[in-house]
Amino acid sequence: MTDKKTYYITTPIYYPSDKLHIGHTYTTVAADAAARFKRMLGYDVMFLTGTDEHGQKIQRKAEEKGVAPKQYVDEIVSGIKDLWKLMQISNDRFIRTTDKQHEEAVQKIFKKLYDQGDIYKSEYEGWYCTPCESFWTERQLVDGKCPDCGREVELTKEESYFFRLSKYQDRLIKYIEENPDFIQPQTRQNEMLNNFLKPGLDDLCVSRTSFDWGIPVAFDEKHVIYVWIDALSNYATALGFLSDDDSDYKRYWPADVHLVGKEIVRFHTIIWPIMLMALGEPIPKQVFGHGWLILEGGKMSKSKGNVVDPVKLVEKYGVDAIRYFLLREVPFGSDGVYSEEALVNRMNSDLANDLGNLMSRTITMIDKYFEGIIPAYKNTGDPLDADLIKLAEETSSKVEELMDKLLFSNALTEIWKLIGRSNKYIDETMPWVLARDESKKERLAEVLYNLAEVLRIIAVLVSPYMPNTPAKIFHQLGVTDESLKAWKSIKSFGALKAGTVVNKGEIIFPRVELKAEEPSTAAAVQPVSGKDKKKNTTQETQKEDNYITIDDFAKIDLRVAKVLECEKIEGSDKLLKLQLEVGSEKRQVVSGISKYYSPEDLIGKNVVLVANLKPVKLRGVESNGMILAADTADSVVVVSPLSEIPSGSKVR
Ligand code: ME8
Ligand code: MG
Repeated sequence: MTDKKTYYITTPIYYPSDKLHIGHTYTTVAADAAARFKRMLGYDVMFLTGTDEHGQKIQRKAEEKGVAPKQYVDEIVSGIKDLWKLMQISNDRFIRTTDKQHEEAVQKIFKKLYDQGDIYKSEYEGWYCTPCESFWTERQLVDGKCPDCGREVELTKEESYFFRLSKYQDRLIKYIEENPDFIQPQTRQNEMLNNFLKPGLDDLCVSRTSFDWGIPVAFDEKHVIYVWIDALSNYATALGFLSDDDSDYKRYWPADVHLVGKEIVRFHTIIWPIMLMALGEPIPKQVFGHGWLILEGGKMSKSKGNVVDPVKLVEKYGVDAIRYFLLREVPFGSDGVYSEEALVNRMNSDLANDLGNLMSRTITMIDKYFEGIIPAYKNTGDPLDADLIKLAEETSSKVEELMDKLLFSNALTEIWKLIGRSNKYIDETMPWVLARDESKKERLAEVLYNLAEVLRIIAVLVSPYMPNTPAKIFHQLGVTDESLKAWKSIKSFGALKAGTVVNKGEIIFPRVELKAEEPSTAAAVQPVSGKDKKKNTTQETQKEDNYITIDDFAKIDLRVAKVLECEKIEGSDKLLKLQLEVGSEKRQVVSGISKYYSPEDLIGKNVVLVANLKPVKLRGVESNGMILAADTADSVVVVSPLSEIPSGSKVR
């Protein structure tokens, strides 16, 4: 154990002031994916999350509810823990700033800084933003409001302790300049240097006397310690810093990365490293400031009422889909707009279509052509195979490089390139054509083995991001051997054993439809009401929404059409161009059925046309409508009326 390299990653500790929304889930899911990834690589990982329970904001919320602050936070914290279970967050530890060990260590930190003269007593007069728990000077306010969140600030005047940030300012500037990886992404580093550090730091007010929900200053009990000093310390106290047992602190500190939202980068890259410098402790290797998930109406926040509830989203779409979406949709570091429509699009295109189809096509064909047994094969050295195998072998190192920089979306993009390449390999090798010819049986075996192996590799690759999908893939592939699920097993192609029996099963990602009027998770509209007891109604609406009405169906103009001419489209192995007669009208339609039909098969036949489909261009050729066809994993059959009927007749 002790010889392993360590990796210490943290999320911010969350304010238990409200139910968490999908924005909070974003930070935690990202940290979880990084932690799972490092574990797969063999690191000894410490992944910490928790709750930030003190401060004026929490005290006021509790007062509004008429309960003691501790009672108020206890209930919310247990909800937060449940949410992380639901999201399958694999944190090794959960810290609460009301934990005794933390409180004692924070008091020691404060005392040490006071004893050495870095904290001194004076009087604070200035502005305070309670939602941000942040002090501001007159000159920093924007139109008299908090420059971070735009909300009202309060004039505060009280006896306070101060921390000499100014004394460490030059050392910090030097540290940041010498360690370009410390603040990531780069733009946030420039912002910290230019907007805060270079103009000069004021000493920071680090105690309050006007309320009491906080850790008392041990030697002056009418003061409570400023909540950010308390909160930032969690990263060290959770490991036993300044406690009787600091073995974990010795083992894991300094942190490899603190993941934080961009609005709190300032606290993590100015106050926190200065605290550590003053204490003589090492500084974390990196603070990564990610962007916000925003709704069309602006950043999600409870007070704005535009919250998206992760629990409801998970109930509706499943954990893996939500996690995939959060990590894939937005490049980590940038802001991204959340919409349920974007989520559904991702699920249908990337999960149902790309990954889902690759798996069901592969398993179906092994089932059909080899009685469900992954076949042994002779290597023919086919260039198509070499290309696929090379990409399969290279993808893991590409993912490693990107994950080192916390580029989750890019890493997933690389994995999906492999999925795309594999689907294309099916189209290129056409196993169903090979299957018709007994002399091609060996080649068929080789193709299907390659597909099964690449699917295994993909299951391993997606493991850090999607905790449930790999098990489903392994099950259908018949892979039980744990070593075949390990990261190092995908470094070279061919570990999957021939003779393994597959289990053809359910579709792992069925297509989903966006139900527009459903209120439960729809963005931006739902005022948040404490507890939602309307679960049953939601499920009923969902059931109802699986139907369309006769009026919906009537919107589709289906017509019988006669194929007059038909030809292949140059440069495409998929597309046919058809000239159709629809009553008195002529129509040109492009259809992706070239692998299953030659032009002669179709000329003179009656087909069914979707006549009011929006025209598109495919390979530069105009297509005015679509002809109906039925498909399975490996064949496509064009739909035709049972008996002769004039073209133009309506189908309903
Ligand atoms: O800031 N998009 O806690 P918090 C992306 N207690 N990230 C979001 C988000 C959104 N819409 N909304 C919130 C605190 N977050 C302090 C931290 S650490 C020593 C103390 C992120 O509950 C936010 O950026 O307000 C932050 O990183 C985290 O959720 C916790 O926010
Ligand atoms: Mg916040």
